[in-house]
Amino acid sequence: MIALTGASGKTGRDLAALLAERGIAHVRLSSRPGCGDRVFDWTDRATWGAALEGVDSLYLVKPPHGTGMAELVADLLASAPAIRRVVLLSEMGRGDKPDADPDRAVERVLERWDGEWTLLRPSWFFQNFSAGGGFRAGVVDGTIALPTGGAPVSWLDTRDIAEAALVALTEDGHCCRGYTLTGPESFGVPELARRIGVVTGRIVEAADPLRVEELATTYDDGTERGSYYAELLVDVREGRYADITTDLEDLTGRAPRTFDDFVREHADDWK
Ligand SMILES: NC(=O)c1ccc[n+]([C@@H]2O[C@H](COP(=O)([O-])OP(=O)(O)OC[C@H]3O[C@@H](n4cnc5c(N)ncnc54)[C@H](OP(=O)(O)O)[C@@H]3O)[C@@H](O)[C@H]2O)c1
Repeated sequence: MIALTGASGKTGRDLAALLAERGIAHVRLSSRPGCGDRVFDWTDRATWGAALEGVDSLYLVKPPHGTGMAELVADLLASAPAIRRVVLLSEMGRGDKPDADPDRAVERVLERWDGEWTLLRPSWFFQNFSAGGGFRAGVVDGTIALPTGGAPVSWLDTRDIAEAALVALTEDGHCCRGYTLTGPESFGVPELARRIGVVTGRIVEAADPLRVEELATTYDDGTERGSYYAELLVDVREGRYADITTDLEDLTGRAPRTFDDFVREHADDWK
Protein backbone atom coordinates (compact mmCIF):
# COMPACT_ATOMS: atom_id res chain seq x y z
CA MET A 1 0.00 0.00 0.00
CA ILE A 2 1.15 3.52 -0.82
CA ALA A 3 1.08 6.32 1.77
CA LEU A 4 1.02 9.96 0.70
CA THR A 5 2.50 12.64 2.89
CA GLY A 6 1.28 16.08 1.86
CA ALA A 7 -1.91 14.42 0.58
CA SER A 8 -3.90 17.62 1.05
CA GLY A 9 -1.29 19.68 -0.81
CA LYS A 10 -0.96 20.65 -4.44
CA THR A 11 0.71 17.52 -5.77
CA GLY A 12 -0.60 15.12 -3.12
CA ARG A 13 -4.27 15.77 -3.89
CA ASP A 14 -3.67 15.12 -7.60
CA LEU A 15 -1.74 11.94 -6.87
CA ALA A 16 -4.48 10.72 -4.50
CA ALA A 17 -7.06 11.32 -7.23
CA LEU A 18 -5.04 9.29 -9.75
CA LEU A 19 -4.58 6.42 -7.30
CA ALA A 20 -8.30 6.42 -6.48
CA GLU A 21 -9.24 6.43 -10.20
CA ARG A 22 -7.02 3.42 -10.79
CA GLY A 23 -8.15 1.53 -7.67
CA ILE A 24 -4.61 1.43 -6.23
CA ALA A 25 -4.55 0.96 -2.45
CA HIS A 26 -3.32 4.11 -0.71
CA VAL A 27 -3.71 6.19 2.44
CA ARG A 28 -3.79 9.98 2.53
CA LEU A 29 -1.82 11.34 5.49
CA SER A 30 -2.53 14.69 7.07
CA SER A 31 -1.38 16.43 10.23
CA ARG A 32 -4.95 17.71 10.64
CA PRO A 33 -7.38 15.12 12.05
CA GLY A 34 -10.22 14.54 9.60
CA CYS A 35 -8.34 15.94 6.58
CA GLY A 36 -6.91 12.62 5.43
CA ASP A 37 -7.36 8.90 6.02
CA ARG A 38 -4.80 8.81 8.85
CA VAL A 39 -3.14 11.42 11.05
CA PHE A 40 0.56 11.91 10.40
CA ASP A 41 2.54 14.82 11.78
CA TRP A 42 6.23 15.17 11.01
CA THR A 43 6.68 16.97 14.31
CA ASP A 44 4.85 14.34 16.39
CA ARG A 45 6.63 11.00 16.15
CA ALA A 46 3.83 9.36 18.15
CA THR A 47 1.68 9.57 14.99
CA TRP A 48 4.15 7.79 12.68
CA GLY A 49 3.61 4.11 13.58
CA ALA A 50 -0.16 3.95 13.08
CA ALA A 51 0.04 6.21 10.01
CA LEU A 52 2.45 3.87 8.24
CA GLU A 53 0.95 0.54 9.23
CA GLY A 54 0.75 -1.77 6.19
CA VAL A 55 2.61 0.75 4.00
CA ASP A 56 5.37 -0.40 1.64
CA SER A 57 5.68 2.66 -0.63
CA LEU A 58 5.76 6.34 0.26
CA TYR A 59 5.18 9.61 -1.59
CA LEU A 60 7.30 11.95 0.43
CA VAL A 61 6.63 15.69 0.65
CA LYS A 62 9.34 17.12 2.90
CA PRO A 63 8.69 18.18 6.49
CA PRO A 64 8.30 21.93 7.05
CA HIS A 65 11.52 23.96 7.00
CA GLY A 66 13.03 24.50 10.41
CA THR A 67 12.12 21.08 11.76
CA GLY A 68 15.42 19.35 10.93
CA MET A 69 14.05 17.89 7.71
CA ALA A 70 16.82 15.43 6.88
CA GLU A 71 16.97 13.98 10.37
CA LEU A 72 13.19 13.53 10.45
CA VAL A 73 13.19 11.77 7.07
CA ALA A 74 16.08 9.50 8.12
CA ASP A 75 14.34 8.65 11.38
CA LEU A 76 11.05 7.97 9.63
CA LEU A 77 12.66 5.54 7.19
CA ALA A 78 14.53 3.81 10.03
CA SER A 79 11.26 3.49 11.97
CA ALA A 80 9.37 1.92 9.06
CA PRO A 81 11.49 -0.94 7.60
CA ALA A 82 8.50 -2.28 5.64
CA ILE A 83 8.75 0.76 3.36
CA ARG A 84 10.86 -0.28 0.39
CA ARG A 85 10.08 2.42 -2.19
CA VAL A 86 10.06 6.20 -1.74
CA VAL A 87 9.36 8.94 -4.28
CA LEU A 88 10.57 12.28 -2.92
CA LEU A 89 9.09 15.58 -4.06
CA SER A 90 12.23 17.67 -4.15
CA GLU A 91 12.83 20.77 -6.21
CA MET A 92 14.59 21.91 -9.39
CA GLY A 93 18.35 22.39 -9.00
CA ARG A 94 18.65 20.77 -5.56
CA GLY A 95 21.19 18.27 -6.91
CA ASP A 96 23.58 21.19 -7.50
CA LYS A 97 23.43 22.41 -3.89
CA PRO A 98 26.01 21.49 -1.26
CA ASP A 99 25.18 18.55 0.98
CA ALA A 100 24.67 20.94 3.90
CA ASP A 101 21.73 22.63 2.12
CA PRO A 102 18.67 21.43 4.11
CA ASP A 103 16.70 20.39 1.01
CA ARG A 104 19.71 18.70 -0.59
CA ALA A 105 20.33 16.96 2.75
CA VAL A 106 16.92 15.29 2.42
CA GLU A 107 17.87 14.06 -1.05
CA ARG A 108 21.13 12.72 0.41
CA VAL A 109 19.19 10.72 3.02
CA LEU A 110 17.35 8.99 0.20
CA GLU A 111 20.51 8.48 -1.86
CA ARG A 112 22.11 6.69 1.10
CA TRP A 113 19.02 4.64 1.93
CA ASP A 114 19.01 0.97 0.94
CA GLY A 115 15.48 0.93 -0.51
CA GLU A 116 14.28 2.01 -3.96
CA TRP A 117 14.20 5.79 -4.19
CA THR A 118 13.36 8.30 -6.91
CA LEU A 119 13.84 12.06 -6.71
CA LEU A 120 11.38 14.34 -8.51
CA ARG A 121 12.80 17.84 -8.94
CA PRO A 122 10.06 20.05 -10.37
CA SER A 123 10.16 23.68 -11.40
CA TRP A 124 7.46 26.02 -9.98
CA PHE A 125 3.81 24.97 -10.09
CA PHE A 126 0.98 26.54 -12.14
CA GLN A 127 -1.21 25.80 -9.12
CA ASN A 128 0.55 28.45 -7.00
CA PHE A 129 -1.80 30.86 -8.79
CA SER A 130 -5.13 28.96 -8.71
CA ALA A 131 -7.43 27.91 -5.85
CA GLY A 132 -5.38 26.85 -2.82
CA GLY A 133 -2.23 28.55 -4.13
CA GLY A 134 -0.45 31.34 -2.28
CA PHE A 135 -0.72 33.78 -5.20
CA ARG A 136 -4.40 33.31 -6.08
CA ALA A 137 -5.44 36.34 -4.03
CA GLY A 138 -2.92 38.48 -5.92
CA VAL A 139 -4.41 37.40 -9.24
CA VAL A 140 -7.92 38.26 -8.01
CA ASP A 141 -6.71 41.65 -6.72
CA GLY A 142 -4.96 42.32 -10.03
CA THR A 143 -1.31 42.29 -8.89
CA ILE A 144 1.01 39.34 -8.61
CA ALA A 145 3.89 40.51 -6.42
CA LEU A 146 6.79 38.10 -6.83
CA PRO A 147 10.38 39.38 -6.68
CA THR A 148 11.77 37.28 -9.52
CA GLY A 149 13.11 40.09 -11.71
CA GLY A 150 10.81 38.82 -14.47
CA ALA A 151 13.20 35.90 -15.00
CA PRO A 152 11.81 32.99 -16.99
CA VAL A 153 10.52 29.95 -15.11
CA SER A 154 9.61 26.59 -16.68
CA TRP A 155 6.28 26.42 -14.77
CA LEU A 156 4.41 23.11 -14.77
CA ASP A 157 1.10 21.56 -13.79
CA THR A 158 0.93 19.57 -10.54
CA ARG A 159 -1.23 17.00 -12.34
CA ASP A 160 1.83 16.20 -14.46
CA ILE A 161 3.98 15.85 -11.33
CA ALA A 162 1.35 13.48 -9.91
CA GLU A 163 1.44 11.41 -13.09
CA ALA A 164 5.22 11.23 -12.89
CA ALA A 165 5.01 10.22 -9.21
CA LEU A 166 2.45 7.52 -10.05
CA VAL A 167 4.82 5.99 -12.60
CA ALA A 168 7.79 6.08 -10.21
CA LEU A 169 5.72 4.59 -7.38
CA THR A 170 4.05 1.80 -9.34
CA GLU A 171 6.46 0.85 -12.14
CA ASP A 172 9.98 -0.56 -11.98
CA GLY A 173 13.06 1.03 -13.54
CA HIS A 174 13.15 4.39 -11.77
CA CYS A 175 15.23 3.48 -8.76
CA CYS A 176 18.14 5.65 -7.77
CA ARG A 177 17.40 8.39 -10.29
CA GLY A 178 16.55 12.07 -10.19
CA TYR A 179 14.13 13.61 -12.69
CA THR A 180 13.98 17.35 -13.34
CA LEU A 181 10.34 18.04 -14.17
CA THR A 182 9.38 21.13 -16.15
CA GLY A 183 6.60 22.48 -18.24
CA PRO A 184 6.86 22.96 -21.99
CA GLU A 185 7.69 26.70 -21.92
CA SER A 186 9.69 29.19 -19.87
CA PHE A 187 8.36 32.68 -19.20
CA GLY A 188 8.42 35.27 -16.45
CA VAL A 189 5.74 36.51 -14.08
CA PRO A 190 4.80 39.51 -16.30
CA GLU A 191 3.96 37.13 -19.16
CA LEU A 192 2.18 34.78 -16.77
CA ALA A 193 0.03 37.68 -15.51
CA ARG A 194 -0.69 38.79 -19.07
CA ARG A 195 -1.85 35.30 -20.07
CA ILE A 196 -4.21 35.00 -17.09
CA GLY A 197 -5.57 38.46 -17.92
CA VAL A 198 -6.27 37.53 -21.54
CA VAL A 199 -8.36 34.49 -20.58
CA THR A 200 -10.16 35.98 -17.58
CA GLY A 201 -10.72 39.44 -19.03
CA ARG A 202 -9.21 40.96 -15.86
CA ILE A 203 -6.35 43.36 -15.55
CA VAL A 204 -3.57 41.31 -13.95
CA GLU A 205 -0.15 42.88 -13.56
CA ALA A 206 3.18 41.74 -12.19
CA ALA A 207 4.85 43.73 -9.45
CA ASP A 208 8.49 43.18 -8.64
CA PRO A 209 8.87 44.81 -5.26
CA LEU A 210 12.52 44.06 -4.48
CA ARG A 211 15.97 44.36 -5.99
CA VAL A 212 18.14 41.24 -5.84
CA GLU A 213 20.32 42.72 -3.07
CA GLU A 214 17.17 43.27 -0.97
CA LEU A 215 16.06 39.62 -1.06
CA ALA A 216 18.29 38.41 1.75
CA THR A 217 17.50 41.32 4.05
CA THR A 218 13.76 40.91 3.38
CA TYR A 219 13.37 37.13 3.54
CA ASP A 220 16.38 35.80 5.44
CA ASP A 221 15.34 36.33 9.04
CA GLY A 222 17.84 33.79 10.34
CA THR A 223 15.40 30.88 10.18
CA GLU A 224 15.81 27.91 7.84
CA ARG A 225 12.57 28.87 6.11
CA GLY A 226 13.69 32.47 5.62
CA SER A 227 17.07 31.59 4.14
CA TYR A 228 15.39 29.00 1.88
CA TYR A 229 13.08 31.64 0.38
CA ALA A 230 15.83 34.22 -0.02
CA GLU A 231 18.10 31.76 -1.83
CA LEU A 232 15.22 30.37 -3.88
CA LEU A 233 14.32 33.80 -5.22
CA VAL A 234 17.95 34.53 -6.10
CA ASP A 235 18.09 31.20 -7.95
CA VAL A 236 14.95 32.04 -9.90
CA ARG A 237 16.24 35.51 -10.69
CA GLU A 238 19.49 34.08 -11.99
CA GLY A 239 17.62 31.80 -14.36
CA ARG A 240 18.08 28.50 -12.52
CA TYR A 241 14.37 27.63 -12.85
CA ALA A 242 14.26 28.35 -16.58
CA ASP A 243 15.53 25.14 -18.15
CA ILE A 244 13.12 22.91 -20.05
CA THR A 245 13.75 19.18 -19.85
CA THR A 246 12.16 16.09 -21.39
CA ASP A 247 12.22 14.14 -18.10
CA LEU A 248 8.49 14.49 -17.53
CA GLU A 249 7.62 13.19 -20.97
CA ASP A 250 10.21 10.42 -20.57
CA LEU A 251 8.44 9.32 -17.39
CA THR A 252 4.79 9.74 -18.33
CA GLY A 253 4.97 9.13 -22.06
CA ARG A 254 3.20 12.36 -22.97
CA ALA A 255 3.88 16.06 -23.29
CA PRO A 256 3.39 18.27 -20.23
CA ARG A 257 0.25 20.40 -19.97
CA THR A 258 0.49 23.99 -21.20
CA PHE A 259 -0.12 27.08 -19.06
CA ASP A 260 -2.72 28.42 -21.50
CA ASP A 261 -4.82 25.26 -21.17
CA PHE A 262 -4.44 25.41 -17.39
CA VAL A 263 -5.70 29.02 -17.30
CA ARG A 264 -8.71 28.17 -19.47
CA GLU A 265 -9.59 25.20 -17.22
CA HIS A 266 -9.19 27.25 -14.02
CA ALA A 267 -10.82 30.51 -15.10
CA ASP A 268 -13.50 30.08 -12.39
CA ASP A 269 -10.81 30.08 -9.68
CA TRP A 270 -10.30 33.81 -10.19
CA LYS A 271 -13.96 34.92 -10.23
N1 LIG B 1 5.04 25.29 -4.90
C1 LIG B 1 5.96 25.17 -5.84
O1 LIG B 1 5.96 25.85 -6.90
C2 LIG B 1 7.06 24.13 -5.67
C3 LIG B 1 7.97 23.94 -6.71
C4 LIG B 1 8.97 22.94 -6.57
C5 LIG B 1 9.01 22.17 -5.41
N2 LIG B 1 8.12 22.40 -4.42
C6 LIG B 1 8.21 21.58 -3.20
O2 LIG B 1 6.96 20.98 -2.98
C7 LIG B 1 6.75 20.77 -1.59
C8 LIG B 1 5.34 21.20 -1.27
O3 LIG B 1 5.26 22.59 -1.35
P1 LIG B 1 3.93 23.43 -1.48
O4 LIG B 1 4.28 24.77 -0.95
O5 LIG B 1 3.39 23.31 -2.84
O6 LIG B 1 2.97 22.79 -0.40
P2 LIG B 1 1.75 21.76 -0.54
O7 LIG B 1 2.24 20.40 -0.93
O8 LIG B 1 0.66 22.37 -1.34
O9 LIG B 1 1.28 21.73 0.99
C9 LIG B 1 2.13 21.29 2.02
C10 LIG B 1 1.66 19.94 2.59
O10 LIG B 1 2.46 19.66 3.74
C11 LIG B 1 1.61 19.09 4.71
N3 LIG B 1 2.12 19.40 6.04
C12 LIG B 1 2.34 20.64 6.58
N4 LIG B 1 2.80 20.53 7.84
C13 LIG B 1 2.87 19.20 8.10
C14 LIG B 1 3.27 18.44 9.23
N5 LIG B 1 3.68 19.02 10.39
N6 LIG B 1 3.22 17.09 9.16
C15 LIG B 1 2.77 16.47 8.05
N7 LIG B 1 2.39 17.13 6.93
C16 LIG B 1 2.43 18.48 6.97
C17 LIG B 1 0.26 19.75 4.50
O11 LIG B 1 -0.73 18.83 4.87
P3 LIG B 1 -1.65 18.93 6.18
O12 LIG B 1 -1.78 20.39 6.54
O13 LIG B 1 -2.94 18.32 5.70
O14 LIG B 1 -0.92 18.12 7.18
C18 LIG B 1 0.22 19.94 2.99
O15 LIG B 1 -0.43 18.85 2.35
C19 LIG B 1 7.83 21.56 -0.85
O16 LIG B 1 8.75 20.67 -0.28
C20 LIG B 1 8.48 22.40 -1.95
O17 LIG B 1 9.87 22.54 -1.75
C21 LIG B 1 7.15 23.35 -4.51
